[in-house]
Amino acid sequence: MSIVYGAARQLLKTVPGLRRFADSPSGQALRYRLALHFEDRPGFTFTQFHRLPAQLDALVGPVLDFLEAHRRPDPIRIVVIGCSTGAEPFTVASVLLERRPQLAFAIDAYDIDPDVLAIARGASYSIDTVHANPLVTADFVRSTFEQEGDRLVVRPEIARRVRFEQADALSPDFRLRVSTADIVMAQNVMCNLRRPLARRLFDNIAALLKQRSALFIDGMDLDMRERCTRICGLVPLAYELQRIHDEARLVRGERYPHFATGLEPFSQRHRNHERRYSTIFLRDS
Ligand SMILES: C[S@@+](CC[C@H](N)C(=O)[O-])C[C@H]1O[C@@H](n2cnc3c(N)ncnc32)[C@H](O)[C@@H]1O
Repeated sequence: MSIVYGAARQLLKTVPGLRRFADSPSGQALRYRLALHFEDRPGFTFTQFHRLPAQLDALVGPVLDFLEAHRRPDPIRIVVIGCSTGAEPFTVASVLLERRPQLAFAIDAYDIDPDVLAIARGASYSIDTVHANPLVTADFVRSTFEQEGDRLVVRPEIARRVRFEQADALSPDFRLRVSTADIVMAQNVMCNLRRPLARRLFDNIAALLKQRSALFIDGMDLDMRERCTRICGLVPLAYELQRIHDEARLVRGERYPHFATGLEPFSQRHRNHERRYSTIFLRDS
């Protein structure tokens, strides 16, 4: 954090007139903008199972409908970038097997950190880890895990759908190594990177999209998401926008407006509110 930014934050907190402004909606928006541009971005590996149920509804509904409208015989390929300890790819595999049992699919999940990948490959979690997210349901836990002593182990029919590999999504050869996919997920990776790096990572990820494909991209600075997706000609999926956004805010806790990883409240007043708040974008070219 720069000295000037630190001093500005301190003034906003301590000078009474400035503090009143800082707590107003416009003051919060200003503080958040400053955080986006000047705050350090520590590299979190935080993840949770069944994080955004409304986004999973979108996946099994309109997203697969869109992809299957031009169905080819080969399985749907899903690539998850920044998969951390595996909660996200296992959640996706479990939900697809449960709600789209006829669908042929395979998931390739990547992370830069060998320690989180070791946990992901083990596919065994404490009960507290699985239940950490209040949106986890008993049905999800039943259909995803088998209990072994005090551990919850991912069912083998789910685990075998996911392959984990170490890769740096910022490296120049990333797109060649990973190759293209029908669905690309890169969630909560870019909000943890400094903005020029996040921009570079977005370009690498967008290059993985097949001509007809979907990008899942919660956890990216919203102004950057608006700009980057527009430049790439991606179309926001306007499905349950506010529900998905509110679930994403729940995960981020009370971080807005203090930290760059916070998430502003949903507002239809934004001119491009669909592009700003959508976490799912379609490519059809
Ligand atoms: C906050 S976690 C998000 C996990 C999961 N996607 C989710 O939303 O729950 C971010 C993950 O991105 C990984 N990551 C950060 N930089 C990366 C890079 N350059 N290439 C691949 N993974 C990266 C981190 O190691 C971390 O596990």
